Formats: sequence, C-alpha cells, structure tokens
Amino acid sequence: MSESGDQRAAVHPIQGGQRRLSRLILTGFMGAGKSTVGASLAHSTGWRFLDLDTCIETDCSRSVAEIFREHGEAYFRGKERELLQQMRSEDQAILALGGGTIEDPLVLKDLLDWEDTCIVFLDAPLKELLGRMNPASRSRPLLTTPEELEARHRRRLPLYRAAHITVVTTGLPPRDVAAKVLRDIRKVWRIEERGKSDDGKL
Ligand code: S3P
Repeated sequence: MSESGDQRAAVHPIQGGQRRLSRLILTGFMGAGKSTVGASLAHSTGWRFLDLDTCIETDCSRSVAEIFREHGEAYFRGKERELLQQMRSEDQAILALGGGTIEDPLVLKDLLDWEDTCIVFLDAPLKELLGRMNPASRSRPLLTTPEELEARHRRRLPLYRAAHITVVTTGLPPRDVAAKVLRDIRKVWRIEERGKSDDGKL
C-alpha cells in the first residue's frame, strides 16, 4: 500500500514571489476530493470552477463511463488534452483535473509551463482514498481491483508530486482542505477574489 509520506503540506518554491495567480489546478487520485474541494474554493474566492470530467461530458453529451465504453480510454485522454488547451486562457479559474490527466508526462510538462498557474496535489493514503470511493460506482470506469488501483496509484504518485504544492488531506473534510489549500497558496501567490483584492482570509 502506498503511503503519502510527510503529513504536513509540502510547499515547493515557485519563482516570482507574490505574483498574481490566474489559475489554480487541482490534481490527485480518484477520491482525492478534487471536485468538492474545487467547488469549495470557487465559493470562497468567487472564481469560476471548471471540472474537466464535467466539461468532457458536456462536450461529448455522454457520461465519462459511456465515453470509455464507446470510444475507449485513448479517446477520453485525447478529449482531456483538447479541453485543457481551451482552459489555458481562463482567468480566475479553479480547474479540477481527472485522476489520470497528468499520467501523460507531456500533459504534465505542459501544465507546469502554464503562466501564473499553481498546481495543487491533494494527497492522502490510498487506503483512505479507496474508503472515500463507492466500489459499486458505475461512473468511474477505472475503479477496478484494489491491486490494480494500487499499481495505478504507485505509478502516478511521482507525477502528482511534481505539482507546485502538495496538501495532505488525511481525515479532513473538503472545507478544511480548501482552507489549507488557500493558506499554502497564499505563501507564494496573490489571489484576488472577484471584485476585491486579496485580504488573506478565507
Ligand atoms: C480517471 C479518473 C476520473 C475520470 C476517469 C479517469 C483516472 O476522474 O477522469 O474516470 O484515470 O483516474 P476522478 O479522479 O475525478 O474520479
């Protein structure tokens, strides 16, 4: 079973000091809370929330599970890449990736090159992530056996860890995770809430 290591949020330095943040990207494995935390962050900041899975579903008029079933994973990954490029110019936006979006190292490298963008890895031990997921859920086509999930998680961990900031979410409700994300981001970035300048509070 993979462990998440350091229980404190690890903050990697981003060059530029108190630069104005334009986009906040959430990454992490299935069950990490990207969508709920993203919605909470959007609520706190007034920023627009974009969930990549939902955007793909709207674009394809199909659920993620249907896209996997009818077209396969490679097609879905292509859609992820295509829609991500459309989001590159969004300002004051919170973007929740799918758990596998960064599995293509080229996608990750590209995201790390986005200007004024902070990528946050929502980290938790796999055991907790599995506990948060409904094993009977038909909406997650890659919710397979625990062994396969463990291998997938292990494979992806180094990619998630390339994010600018890692926030350990173990045992925390989404609202507290969102507060922690904002606290860590503000050590480096300036977040202007819509219609006002940053006051440093959630
Ligand atoms: C996937 C995770 C899902 C969704 C698709 C593939 C993955 O998103 O994009 O089922 O490869 O881990 P969530 O992480 O939001 O469940």
